[in-house]
Amino acid sequence: MDGVRLVVSDLDGTLLGDDKALARWARWLAPRRESIRLAYNSGRFFASVAEVIETTPLPRPDAVIGGVGTEIRRYPDGAAVADGWPGRRDGWDPAAIRRALAADSALELQPEEFQAPFKLSYYARDLDAAALTALQERLARAGQRVEIVYSSSRDLDFLPAGVNKGSAAAALAAAWRLAPWQVFVAGDTGNDASMFAQGFRGIVVANARDELRRLTAPTIYHAKASFAAGVLEGLCHWLGKDLGIRGHQSSASCAGGSTWR
Ligand code: GLC
Repeated sequence: MDGVRLVVSDLDGTLLGDDKALARWARWLAPRRESIRLAYNSGRFFASVAEVIETTPLPRPDAVIGGVGTEIRRYPDGAAVADGWPGRRDGWDPAAIRRALAADSALELQPEEFQAPFKLSYYARDLDAAALTALQERLARAGQRVEIVYSSSRDLDFLPAGVNKGSAAAALAAAWRLAPWQVFVAGDTGNDASMFAQGFRGIVVANARDELRRLTAPTIYHAKASFAAGVLEGLCHWLGKDLGIRGHQSSASCAGGSTWR
């Protein structure tokens, strides 16, 4: 398994956003798919991810993590990966959360199609850290232990405690017996932040929101390019390092060879 890598990437605003760059990334990846496994990690649910895969140049992945980490499925058959994920979660009762938040005029429930047994999502503009902490405390008083994920100064997701895109990616890597160093993650907004806290090697695309741009760590590469071009630049950066090449390998030279090994 040592030669195998897993790329776990967000879709909207990360791989999606520049069709030409996406097609270039897909062309780069195709001859490398034997050694590079692919998973998409999205706020969308599986069916919506499947739809976008079939209607864009997105390559078919091996797995899809959907609903902000709440579902992990094999692609295309949709079979569950990481048995029973997200499992039994104490202190998670979405009906009780809805009741506790019902009177809050700053929160607007997202349409029912974006709700699921383990995901409760609202729109809420420009919340700051103090507002998020206050929400957490309010829900704790109502007996709810939740993960709050805030993205794009607008999307507010409530998930069972400990469930997010990062923990789901870690569960997928564990199910496939891959070590953190074999995993590359890419994203652009707040719901991707947890992917950068798992010991994986990360890529933040240039068009990312501030909430991700301000993350810094030796395992986080900030691409100069946007969307899929940024993902390709980041993969070339990390794979170049694996080859022991010092400094940055340019996307062009990385894209030139048919294999990275
Ligand atoms: C996707 C989901 C939405 C969620 C957002 C951020 O857009 O459809 O429900 O709030 O991602 O995670």
